[in-house]
Amino acid sequence: MAKRRLVIGGNWKMYKTPTEAATTSKALKVKLINVEAVDVVVCPPATALLAVNQILKDTVVKLGGQNLHWADEGAFTGEISAKMLKDAGCSYVIVGHSERRHVFGERDEGLNKKAIKALQEGLIPIFCVGETLDDRERGRTEAVVREQLQNGLAGIVVDDPGSIVVAYEPVWAIGTGVNATPQQAEDVHAFIREFLGQLWGKATADQVRIQYGGSVKPQNAEELLGQENIDGALVGGASLNADDFAAIIKAGQSVS
Ligand code: PGA
Repeated sequence: MAKRRLVIGGNWKMYKTPTEAATTSKALKVKLINVEAVDVVVCPPATALLAVNQILKDTVVKLGGQNLHWADEGAFTGEISAKMLKDAGCSYVIVGHSERRHVFGERDEGLNKKAIKALQEGLIPIFCVGETLDDRERGRTEAVVREQLQNGLAGIVVDDPGSIVVAYEPVWAIGTGVNATPQQAEDVHAFIREFLGQLWGKATADQVRIQYGGSVKPQNAEELLGQENIDGALVGGASLNADDFAAIIKAGQSVS
């Protein structure tokens, strides 16, 4: 089977003011001018979305939010809606990043509502799952990932495989410098695809893109992205630097 088109995302987390984000975006605009073979998305903090969109709107780089609320609008201090993200230029949104789950206590039920809302609004959710080190050491990786998918994607029927992205991000690999080995990642990705097949049918599951995230760097990107079931990367730290992010995208192009 031909390799699925890779999708490489940069999650800037709570880094970069609008001014700093604009500087990085200008550098990306120059470096990514010839990128055709892979999809690229950057997810800046909400305050920088407009500034980044201004610079990248006519380029291959798509914009994503880092989080959303499931309501259209309302008295939800500190939250951001799908409509707001779209109006700011977003076509993607990260849902259930491990920092949202583990630092801010987000649970499957709310993440399910967020994923449903994103899909209803035509935003592509990047739905994140992943086990902790403790889970892995107890041999619970598949059980945890299965539960996150089962609950988080409950009631969701996907006909268009391009309408959603799943990201496998082992918590122990995020921001630690210790990436999953290509084989460890590939094993879980194959497991996720199998599970998505039970949910949505094999033909759809075969087309859905599953990103790997967790200490992806220019040095390890090619080997990770070369695995059969790894269809992209969600990059944190290394996406903050335009040179490093561009190098990861180049690695993606070289295996495409
Ligand atoms: P990292 O973060 O690349 O800094 O490990 C990945 C992520 O949180 O998506």
